Amino acid sequence: MTVVITGATGTVGREVARRLVSAGRPVRLLARRAEGLRRLRGELLPAARAGVEAVPVDLGDRQGLERALRGARAVLVVTSDPLSPEHDALLVAAANRESTAAARRRDGTRGGERPDGTGGAVHLVKLSALAVTDPYADDLLTRWQRENEDRVRESGLPWTLLRPRAFMSNTLSWAPGIRDERTVRAYGGQARNACVDPRDIAEAAAAALGDPAHHGRTHHLTGPEALSAAEQTEQLGRLLDTGLTLVELSRAQAEAALRARWPEPVAVALLASAERLRAGSKAGTEPGVARATGRVPTSFAQWAADHRTAFA
Ligand SMILES: NC(=O)c1ccc[n+]([C@@H]2O[C@H](COP(=O)([O-])OP(=O)(O)OC[C@H]3O[C@@H](n4cnc5c(N)ncnc54)[C@H](OP(=O)(O)O)[C@@H]3O)[C@@H](O)[C@H]2O)c1
Repeated sequence: MTVVITGATGTVGREVARRLVSAGRPVRLLARRAEGLRRLRGELLPAARAGVEAVPVDLGDRQGLERALRGARAVLVVTSDPLSPEHDALLVAAANRESTAAARRRDGTRGGERPDGTGGAVHLVKLSALAVTDPYADDLLTRWQRENEDRVRESGLPWTLLRPRAFMSNTLSWAPGIRDERTVRAYGGQARNACVDPRDIAEAAAAALGDPAHHGRTHHLTGPEALSAAEQTEQLGRLLDTGLTLVELSRAQAEAALRARWPEPVAVALLASAERLRAGSKAGTEPGVARATGRVPTSFAQWAADHRTAFA
């Protein structure tokens, strides 16, 4: 049965879609912008042995979500706006509605349980964040993810939580500075972060979606080692065969950059997150990628080599 992927055109969602399609599973891609969905569907179709549907829908559209979840067996829950906390609640409500409808449909036809014993229940796989485990983290983003997790756990549906550390792909924001000035600008450039390859998150998600063995499990997903921005800059320099300079931003400069890019409450939360990084709270590695996927997590060096053209 169909796996619904929210945030389908985003960093993690598109990688989950690729993996499910390669495994011959039917997918339904959800995001707002029809053009991005159309392009992604076009990329996926040549490898598809089952349906690849694309449904443009806003996560704030209750009825649209209910329609989009019809026939869903599992949902990858990716929300990205802490200023719209209703998105997770609406997704959980739509999944509950579909679970009830599926149970009725089955009772009306042949009755009985699904072979996996889950009844008609939709499996929710929630993309959260590892910061939720940090007792010192009390910023908007972390509180929002904790509440999202609570909603999923209390939904009455089978669930799996994915808690990644920072994505390696966040360093793509350095690409223009590297290309144009051979420079990386960072706040807390010496602080180490056990960042994770989004493809490893996607592999964990694809393994979990619809698999009862993952019900009730929480996967803490990090890379194999913690690296500072200075060390990542050094690795990128070696890869590109050029010298790169790391320019350390002051707190005021970092704050100004965040305020220029994000709404005020989000900028404040991201600054708090940066301070926790500087205090060393993001350096621990976790075994979640190996446990969920059966293989070692990807190194930053490998991720960077695979994305070399973005920096060159
Ligand atoms: N980046 C990190 O380091 C990091 C670390 C830990 C956890 N996370 C978590 O990862 C999640 C983000 O995942 P991501 O980076 O893969 O996403 P992303 O690349 O930011 O993409 C967001 C996706 O959601 C869709 N979207 C956004 N608003 C929507 C709306 N109102 N209705 C429907 N679709 C909407 C976007 O497409 P449209 O714009 O077309 O709608 C896009 O497909 C967040 O929950 C974040 O907290 C991130």
